[in-house]
Amino acid sequence: MEYQEILTRNQEILSRPVKAIPESRLEKERDLYHRRNRRSLEIFEKAKNLIPGGVEHNLSQNKPFPLAMDRAKGYRMWDVDNNEYVDYLMCGAPIILGHAFEPLDEKIVEIILEKGPATGLTSEYELLAAQEIVRHMPGVEMVRFLQSGTEADMAAIRIARAFTGRQKVIKIGGSYHGWSDQMVYSLHVPGTGPLNSRGITTESYAHLIDVPPNDFDALEKAFEENTGKGGVAAVMVEPIGGESGTHPVHPEWNRRIRDLCDHYGALLVFDEVVTGFRLDMGGAQKYFNITPDLTVLGKIIAHGYPSAGAVGGRKDVMSVCQGGMGEKIYIGGTLAANPISTAACYHALRLMEEHDAVNRARAYADRLTAAMNDLFATRENLGFFVYNFGPIMHYVTTAFFAVDLTGPDAFTQIMTRKQTADDYQVVTLGQGLCTLAGTRMYTCMQHDDEALNRTLEVWEYLLSLIPRG
Ligand SMILES: Cc1ncc(COP(=O)(O)O)c(C=O)c1O
Repeated sequence: MEYQEILTRNQEILSRPVKAIPESRLEKERDLYHRRNRRSLEIFEKAKNLIPGGVEHNLSQNKPFPLAMDRAKGYRMWDVDNNEYVDYLMCGAPIILGHAFEPLDEKIVEIILEKGPATGLTSEYELLAAQEIVRHMPGVEMVRFLQSGTEADMAAIRIARAFTGRQKVIKIGGSYHGWSDQMVYSLHVPGTGPLNSRGITTESYAHLIDVPPNDFDALEKAFEENTGKGGVAAVMVEPIGGESGTHPVHPEWNRRIRDLCDHYGALLVFDEVVTGFRLDMGGAQKYFNITPDLTVLGKIIAHGYPSAGAVGGRKDVMSVCQGGMGEKIYIGGTLAANPISTAACYHALRLMEEHDAVNRARAYADRLTAAMNDLFATRENLGFFVYNFGPIMHYVTTAFFAVDLTGPDAFTQIMTRKQTADDYQVVTLGQGLCTLAGTRMYTCMQHDDEALNRTLEVWEYLLSLIPRG
């Protein structure tokens, strides 16, 4: 689906009242959820005393309570009550070969048994993993491994500031670049500024410039206005748009940012934590044919194994990470580049290539997107729709992410619409579909016809609960 159509269809949904599931019906679904998930509830009740809020993860659905997972295989997942799910969370994107992919797991088990987990010193796998990344990513000539996407984003900003000698960083509203102090700004919905800044000093944002997505004038102004103030060091970009394409990019947006970075001497940083090795083996940079100066990679490079993150880029830029005392920038991480994560990276990337994982996951996503749109078209008055960037799918039901913050009752609108989307998700999850945040689905190379049919059945069931007219 094209950029303009996505915007138009979001607006169509926003122009209509939300279509909630009637309370009596919803009550039955909540009741079913409780009955199906007794063991998960038990775990949650105990965890509340030891873990703030009883849960660490907020990617899936935590209402009425989070489900504790037991195991996963291929595209399937089972919770501790042995309910089965078609998984589209895929651990928040890194799983593309499928869960518990034996050829990968066997290699990792071998390393653990033969070599132990980590020594704190380098291993050959570090070199092999770096070679694989460089071989695929057009903009990456050198790599520094870190332990998460958040750390890699922090490192990218530090590298950019050290290389350019400048301080300002442009962040596009609604995008996510991890949870470091300086990047928790205008999250989720563009224009929300410091809404999530509890515990963060205002000074942390002193050199951050928040530019609304696809606002070409504001972007140019940000560069111009800051030239006299030390200049822009870097622009942080999610290349398919904020929140992995929830706020899709105008077709000319990335190119314009590249041109302005070149004109003003700033570095372009593509945050490819989700798009790298998922949108394309060469990332969004290959897909759009736009080469960034720095690339941020995350969880997918270890395919779900822990301690996964990397920043890579041009040799001259990356060279600020080396040198003597006082010359190199300070980056740390005791477990960064440990043999398990780097071996997982090396083997996962090779297996993805060998199995043509990206193209297979994309083909399935294309089919499911078309099938879901056909199904939603049978209930035209709802306006629900789906779009995908390869194996990254977005479904829009209440369009809460697209509410214009300058409009009347914006926050009430967002909360009401989000509540209804959450209620839909209680149903879809209860029926065995695991998605991300009630709006996103990631596919893997093992999703098949059975998964597709099961997915459509669940959506049909949900539609049957929403009153016609
Ligand atoms: C685009 C993007 N950047 C950075 C991050 C942060 O990565 P991590 O959760 O590994 O810190 C994420 C996480 O989902 C992400 O989607």
